[in-house]
Amino acid sequence: MGSSGKSIFNTLIALVILPLACCNVQPPIVNPGILSQAKSLGECQACKLFVDSFKKGLERTVRGKYEGGDAAWEEEKLKLSYKRSEMRLIDIQEGICKEGKHSVQCHHMAEKAEEFIEAWWAQDPDESTDLYNYICIDKMQVCCPKHHFGKDCTPCPGDHERLCSGNGKCRGDGTRKGNGTCLCDPGYTGGDCDHCMTGYYLSYKDDTKMLCSPCHVSCMGGCRAGSQKDCVACKAGFAFDSDEGCLDINECDDVNKCTKNQFCMNSIGSFTCMACDKSCDTCHGDGPDMCRKCAKGYSKKGEFCIADREDEDQSEKLTTTRYMTYVGLLIATGILLPRSTSLGSLVGAMVLSYILGAEYYCMINGHTGLVDLKNFDLAQLFHT
Ligand SMILES: *[C@@H]1O[C@H](CO)[C@@H](O)[C@H](O)[C@H]1NC(C)=O
Repeated sequence: MGSSGKSIFNTLIALVILPLACCNVQPPIVNPGILSQAKSLGECQACKLFVDSFKKGLERTVRGKYEGGDAAWEEEKLKLSYKRSEMRLIDIQEGICKEGKHSVQCHHMAEKAEEFIEAWWAQDPDESTDLYNYICIDKMQVCCPKHHFGKDCTPCPGDHERLCSGNGKCRGDGTRKGNGTCLCDPGYTGGDCDHCMTGYYLSYKDDTKMLCSPCHVSCMGGCRAGSQKDCVACKAGFAFDSDEGCLDINECDDVNKCTKNQFCMNSIGSFTCMACDKSCDTCHGDGPDMCRKCAKGYSKKGEFCIADREDEDQSEKLTTTRYMTYVGLLIATGILLPRSTSLGSLVGAMVLSYILGAEYYCMINGHTGLVDLKNFDLAQLFHT
């Protein structure tokens, strides 16, 4: 194939993709999770992150930088001098706090801890030192030992094996913050987290453990046990049945729950009225294919209600784009045909099948095809 043939061939491929894109354009969907920022850490957690990262750095550099020295004795010597060198500390610090979403806070902590780390490094330390204790608890004073809290690392009150009855934690545990009172897990209440919250019932209890479990969603004001039959009373949106307990009311059974341009969606304990698609007068769901009756100015085409005017406008635009493409293709064929009959007729056949394919695609997708071509005389093109 000659270079002009090749470029025409490429043009053809590009042109095949264009009308398909015109028939089906959708806006991009943005993931909202990407936009929200990471929650900030407490100082003690940031310190722990820094220490963990530093330990990884120690491991990363433990084999030294000068692997593969000329002789074994030489390598051994270099390794020893690197092990305690300023250079290794720099290598560690350069790679620190690189991972994770809290790297900014980690770096900040690393800066603050720098003098303590340098002092520790200078005294030829044992690398198995508990750096967390040394840095975060003793030197930086941002953490406390386990089950201690507050400025002075006061022990949490109560039995350290079973703090807050095993159903909560001591406020500030392990940090220099908090006041040591119990922060109960969901469902528990009381100074020692030894009572069930309203909406929960005692589902288990022995000498060392108690468990509270949530009442059934249909319950109001508490329950004896977990089923809908055990409610003290039923929540709004539920009706009491002497056999079944609290049962969901299907509000949508009442056809007058929502207004004319809405449809009703039942949910457990409630319902929602949602607006019909603008193409519907009445509907039984969302979208232009769920109309019971089309809105004024729209008419039914297959499953859909389509705007009478808008439909013509849009399809006219699309149709024009498509026909421009065909004209381009035909001109390309016209250029090629006199130069090489075999290539020309091959491209001609491709153009023809492409046009048929695109027309068919657009026809089954509801756009008007060649049959509606009024102001465009293809035959004229061939004569000129
Ligand atoms: C302890 O702190 C919590 C939460 O900050 C607070 O609600 C509570 O009143 C405090 N308790 C005491 C005894 O200071």
